[in-house]
Amino acid sequence: SQPLRLGIAGLGTVGVGVVRIIRKQAALIEARTGRPITITAVSARSRDKDRGVSLSGYAWEDDPVALAKRDDVDVFVELMGGDEGPAKDATEAALASGKDVVTANKALLAIHGQALAEQAEAAGCLIRYEAAVAGGIPVIKALTESLAGNEITRVMGVMNGTCNYILTRMEETGNGYNSLFEEAEALGYLEADPNLDVGGIDAAHKLAILSSIAFGTQVDFDGIEIEGIQRVSIDDILAAANMGYKIKLLGVAQMTGRGLEQRMQPCLVPDSSPLGQLAGGTNMIVLEGDAIGQIVLRGPGAGEGPTASAVMSDICDIARGWHGPVFGQKATTLASATAALSQRP
Ligand code: NAP
Ligand code: HSE
Repeated sequence: SQPLRLGIAGLGTVGVGVVRIIRKQAALIEARTGRPITITAVSARSRDKDRGVSLSGYAWEDDPVALAKRDDVDVFVELMGGDEGPAKDATEAALASGKDVVTANKALLAIHGQALAEQAEAAGCLIRYEAAVAGGIPVIKALTESLAGNEITRVMGVMNGTCNYILTRMEETGNGYNSLFEEAEALGYLEADPNLDVGGIDAAHKLAILSSIAFGTQVDFDGIEIEGIQRVSIDDILAAANMGYKIKLLGVAQMTGRGLEQRMQPCLVPDSSPLGQLAGGTNMIVLEGDAIGQIVLRGPGAGEGPTASAVMSDICDIARGWHGPVFGQKATTLASATAALSQRP
């Protein structure tokens, strides 16, 4: 059968991980999807950088937009990051050229998800983004597919590993926030703009995406009440511990009589609960539905292997012929549902 041909823009942590999996697991993936998956062309800022993986056999494009439009690319894989600039331009160009898109970019989807979904669905294209929320944890698939028969009543969880690492280390060492921020920085955990992590913004991007799928509304990042972990003191951590609690940067989304409530803020959780026991850089998402009750998904929310694993699941679904709307329901339906909600008294 015809190969599924990829154009990959972004060869950093995640992009290199995807190239590695495709090079290592080509036969296994073909056996599982019934179709070879090949890389036609790649793009990054620096052509000369040694990326620790062979790029031989792939064409090089300096411009991600040109990559996205190539006739010999079936799926544009966006792994550059950022909610504006090349990530947005190239994603729009790919959809305008009739190509499916796979991305790990939560910022792009949290800010422009509705417009991109409308563009994709009007063009009959897919946007898949399992890696954008909680890295390797298959939470998008869980919500859109496995729980499709449920009315979702609540989504909550720890969605930023860096914040969980800092808070856990404050508990373990008794050291203050500034010292543990420096430790996380030295370990390379922080985003290029650290405020995305410690300001709760990265986690809120993820919550906005989950809320849209769970509650059938359009992505509403601006509707999230966000407070980061910068003001959590060691005294707060010790006082919480004395009462049998931990402090976690917790995202919660639920439908209330007043509409969709979305919060991302430091919260007390019982020490003995699954969320209280979540240490280090791990993520945990709790999903509640009327039929299923509660399920808890726990795993690596970042890093080369876990994130590339999630990107590959989307690519394999496309190779198998998967089709469906971007956020679980048609984007136009999400827009009308959101408009109806805002008219409630
Ligand atoms: P990264 O290591 O910083 O890599 C970014 C890549 O994009 C680099 O290869 C860079 O090129 C390239 N790039 C940036 N601007 C470009 C431009 N203008 N034109 C062409 N290429 C450009 O980022 P990452 O950690 O792999 O993350 C990629 C995406 O995955 C982001 O959306 C991120 O939020 C998301 N994500 C990451 C993780 C994770 O654990 N890292 C987890 C979940 C989701 P150079 O290498 O030449 O500089
Ligand atoms: N900075 C993010 C985190 C990376 O710490 O969870 C994965 O999205």
